[in-house]
Amino acid sequence: MIVSPSVLSLDYSDTKSQIEELNQSKATWMHFDVMDGHFVPNLTFGPDILKSFVKISDLFKDVHIMVDDPDFFSEVFIKAGAEMITFHYEVMDSDEDIQALIDKIHALGCKAGISIKPNTDVSVLKPFLNSADLFLIMSVEPGFGGQAFMENALDKIRTLKKWICESNSNALIEVDGGINEETGRLCAEAGADVLVAGSYVFKNDIKEATEVLCNM
Ligand code: DX5
Ligand code: ZN
Repeated sequence: MIVSPSVLSLDYSDTKSQIEELNQSKATWMHFDVMDGHFVPNLTFGPDILKSFVKISDLFKDVHIMVDDPDFFSEVFIKAGAEMITFHYEVMDSDEDIQALIDKIHALGCKAGISIKPNTDVSVLKPFLNSADLFLIMSVEPGFGGQAFMENALDKIRTLKKWICESNSNALIEVDGGINEETGRLCAEAGADVLVAGSYVFKNDIKEATEVLCNM
């Protein structure tokens, strides 16, 4: 299992030592939640913060942009060091626009993911099975860490896994929100490839919690 700890839950008064611990853990990705105060009622990091994380960690930079204007911000965050940009289906106007954004992200040398909120049907992802690198299933309403896992994510993961296998796609399924040792196991059984975890990793012993999720 790939684990992508969400730095949204870091204790920012102690950033360097926690990132050092993360660097020595079994995590291979780092999840970076960008919020613009419009798409979600919260504000987080700009590109300069991502640049600082790039300086202190070689973990794969998994950037989840919860913004109204992903076309503009994907380029900004790729320049700052993003290796995966995942944008939200809900802010896009058409399938053509989604495909164009995937192509743009690829042309800029980055991988591209599409995310859906808990009330969005998984079937909207079907046209992109062979062009997106990752599908992010939100298991909480985006905006804040520390919320409870919503079980309707599990059916979406199972359905998506089946479609991915049937279409010989290499896309990964990532789950984000309320992941801990119980819900992480349910997602692993349903077919998830990447677990995002904020509170569970940073409110516990970082290395131990990461190892529990990696071993799923
Ligand atoms: C929520 C974010 C998540 C969040 C997960 O909008 O996308 O990545 O950090 O936090 P936990 O693991 O605490 O639910
Ligand atoms: Zn996220």
